[in-house]
Amino acid sequence: MLTLGIETSCDETSCSVLKGTNVVLSNVVSSSLFRHQPFGGVVPEIASRHCLEQIDVVFQEALKQAGIKASELDLIAVTQGPGLIGSLLVGVCFAKALSYQLNIPLMAVNHLEAHLVAPWISKAEAPAQLPKEEPSRFIGLLVSGGHTSLSYHEKNKAVLMGETVDDAVGEAYDKVAKILGLGYPGGPIIDKMAKEGNPKAFLFTKPKQKNRFDFSFSGVKTAVLYQVQGHQSLRAQRSNPHSEIASGKKHPRNDDSSLPHSFVCDIAASFQEAAVRWLVDKTLDAVTFKHASDIVVGGGVSANSHLRKTLTEEGERLALRVWFPPLWLTTDNAAMIARRGFEMFQQNRKKNSSKQRSLKLTGNPHLQIAS
Ligand code: KG4
Ligand code: ZN
Repeated sequence: MLTLGIETSCDETSCSVLKGTNVVLSNVVSSSLFRHQPFGGVVPEIASRHCLEQIDVVFQEALKQAGIKASELDLIAVTQGPGLIGSLLVGVCFAKALSYQLNIPLMAVNHLEAHLVAPWISKAEAPAQLPKEEPSRFIGLLVSGGHTSLSYHEKNKAVLMGETVDDAVGEAYDKVAKILGLGYPGGPIIDKMAKEGNPKAFLFTKPKQKNRFDFSFSGVKTAVLYQVQGHQSLRAQRSNPHSEIASGKKHPRNDDSSLPHSFVCDIAASFQEAAVRWLVDKTLDAVTFKHASDIVVGGGVSANSHLRKTLTEEGERLALRVWFPPLWLTTDNAAMIARRGFEMFQQNRKKNSSKQRSLKLTGNPHLQIAS
């Protein structure tokens, strides 16, 4: 069985051909990241225009790399949400038209749930990396630029246990990088700079939440801002004690690219230490609460080297299995959408793929995990 996955929830346009349950024949991604970089974040209008320009090119390339014709496809899976409505509609409309033309079923996929199936797929040449058996019960830790959540999964049903009450962890990485003048996206660069810094140089207080499985990341971002401003005032005082910054009348710029390298590395390492510790502690608490023995991690921040190392070590210490996607599947991609759509199709959700339903499908920017 050949499934076409289509992903256009944000700034990436991706199409993938999946063979059977887990063999990725192609996974083509066209990113508009370079177009957003001058603005320090994703501009929705630019993202959706890029999706519109790229979708057919990416689709044709995915077929070519998989070595198949469109008429050989058996199923289409498309991201329904969450995401930017303009981008979502490009993928959904393309998928509906294709499903109608080829007369094959169409599955609407939740992007967040799809991130958590990424560890179960691989390229044809690397099947040995896949687990012998996928866990039927696990704690899902979703860490991306727009979402941070803990969910409990059992027998293909998911329950949301907690989520961020303010910024997502990826968003916190991006904002901290902006304060430090490091550019966008901030996650990979902070991950790199943290390796040269002292994680104990600054102590960031753990936020308290009413729901023990909820997260909060906006406080740590503000604490980083204060540290940077304090450092800049001190420097200004030393070089010119009468300046407005030194006297506290004027705040220094928040994206100062002239901060000393060692200071930036120390902030990066200390911020990362705190953020990862909070993610890991809450995940282990959720594992204990649900008596689970498997953890599945997904989303862009699952590429983070410190998170991967810390959670893997904790897993070994507590005899838990911890599943991360391979690095090429951590950021947004259509292979995980194809896999999730295929899974839903197999789980007797055939009624969801009726022609009538498919043609009524539309994007849902606010879709939640387990909704
Ligand atoms: O899942 P994703 O590709 O897009 C969303 O659905 O949001 O995640 C993007 C996020 C960005 O905030 C980016 O800074 C973060 O993932 N990210 C990382 C790393 N690589 C990407 N964060 C920390 N460490 C990384 N190595
Ligand atoms: Zn994502």
